[in-house]
Amino acid sequence: MTQRRPLMAANWKMNKTHREAVAFAEALDDALDEKQLPGATGPDIVLFAPFTALPATSEHRLNCSSAWHLGAQTMDFHDSGAYTGEISGDMLQALGITSVLVGHSERRQYYNETDETCNKKLHAAFKHNLIPILCVGETLEEREAGQTDVVVMRQMRMALDGVTTQQREQLVIAYEPIWAIGTGKVCDAAEANRTIAVIRREIGLAHTRILYGGSMKPDNVAELMKQPDIDGGLVGGASLDVDSFMQLVAAAVPVTA
Ligand code: 13P
Repeated sequence: MTQRRPLMAANWKMNKTHREAVAFAEALDDALDEKQLPGATGPDIVLFAPFTALPATSEHRLNCSSAWHLGAQTMDFHDSGAYTGEISGDMLQALGITSVLVGHSERRQYYNETDETCNKKLHAAFKHNLIPILCVGETLEEREAGQTDVVVMRQMRMALDGVTTQQREQLVIAYEPIWAIGTGKVCDAAEANRTIAVIRREIGLAHTRILYGGSMKPDNVAELMKQPDIDGGLVGGASLDVDSFMQLVAAAVPVTA
């Protein structure tokens, strides 16, 4: 029997100024206090804020000993140097950031992130003691062509090249079918669980946490969290509002497999 602590992650994408992010953090602290969450069995909570919101939100977090962690939505794989506009693992670590998204489909689609750069970013994240959340998932065309498992396996194998067993245990994976992101079309819970079980077999470790992402909302979270292989969510739209995010946090109960 393996018990994995659930994880509920907010991916704010390009939303919220630093002031709005701190206001969200304050409201989240109050709501978590009131509901006594996450408590001993509640989920880990990570807020993936935009870069400009990280310093102020991190400072708030340190001053209020808040019960959540902060993550970055991407990072560069170089340590430092002439890479205009980029942010390094060192810079994130110095701010108290503990996690980073790697290979989100929007980065793959709009910013040329490839399986190769995902691999470099995973290695850079581990080097700087950041826990990466590797995002994988298929397009609608790939799903309709019966290619879901092939695509996800390719993304996994290329991204994880050279990643050690010890690192794989810390790694978090998010299965995000692209056609379900921001569309309101959630993946059928049993089918999401099936794909995630395939990913788990490929990883080969019972402790690795694997999240579902794609139109997760208060009205579908319970069905998704009931699935034995789904350990939590990576949430866009429904994470922007504290009340709706709190409903997701409250529904993220431990999973026993
Ligand atoms: P939505 O929850 O808005 O569909 O976004 C999912 C996502 O991309 C999280 O990374």
